[in-house]
Amino acid sequence: MNGVSATARWTAAARADETRRDDALFTDALAGDLAGPEGVARYERYANPGTTEFLAIRTRYLDEVIGRSSLTQVVLVAAGLDTRSVRLAWPSGTVLYELDQAGLIDEKEKRLAELGARHACERHAIGTDLTGPWDEPLRAAGWDPSVPTLWIVEGLLFYLPENDARTLLAHLESLSAPGSVLAGDLLSHQSMVSEFSQEGLRRLREDGCPWLWGTDQPEDVLTEAGWTVREVKVPGEEGASFDRWPWPPLPRGTEGFPMNFLFTASA
Ligand SMILES: C[S@@+](CC[C@H](N)C(=O)[O-])C[C@H]1O[C@@H](n2cnc3c(N)ncnc32)[C@H](O)[C@@H]1O
Repeated sequence: MNGVSATARWTAAARADETRRDDALFTDALAGDLAGPEGVARYERYANPGTTEFLAIRTRYLDEVIGRSSLTQVVLVAAGLDTRSVRLAWPSGTVLYELDQAGLIDEKEKRLAELGARHACERHAIGTDLTGPWDEPLRAAGWDPSVPTLWIVEGLLFYLPENDARTLLAHLESLSAPGSVLAGDLLSHQSMVSEFSQEGLRRLREDGCPWLWGTDQPEDVLTEAGWTVREVKVPGEEGASFDRWPWPPLPRGTEGFPMNFLFTASA
């Protein structure tokens, strides 16, 4: 697995950790096996105040977006070692597509088979490069552009060069039938420049999976890509806390502190 793919083990280890809590915001029974020792090592190596909490909140936030949606065509864009196909109760008829780099998808399919994973929806896993022409393999797997899609972009955009991330967001919108929804997360520019982030950023660079960019104007990034923003939340706000964020939400525009954004937008 290359540097950035291995970050999927990190977030799987975070979900395994959350699963062990009495007050877990979700349970992911396969996460520990998928993360393995490398995932645990990365989880410990990248631990920072707020990181564990944010990863749990992000997953729960997106679980709730999915739970509220009636869309039955769903794409996990950069699915990593996500096991929502197994752990969520999907409406009947749901078809779930998972996109990620081919090496990660191959390894994931092998591990899921070994673990006897049983998917709760029709699922197609597709190895592709999201900075290239990725929608042909998606169409070939059965994805239908005339049907509204729920796109989930969790933990991806800041690993892509900013231009590629913006192109991807715009391309997702251009592929979206009316009624489609996009939900995911963005990193703030403050997270890139805050003194409190620098050690974590250094470690990510050293491990070949640098965070490349952030924005303090997530609404503008989404709007410029053609999306209609429904909401942008920071951890601690209602709907993005789940009693897990231990601090008050940082007011928007605060400088010097890392901040993450959770968003939902429609086509
Ligand atoms: C931090 S992981 C997040 C995975 C998953 N969404 C989660 O929350 O656990 C980032 C994922 O982005 C994927 N990724 C990064 N760049 C990519 C690219 N150019 N094409 C496809 N996938 C990519 C990596 O392989 C990795 O699985």
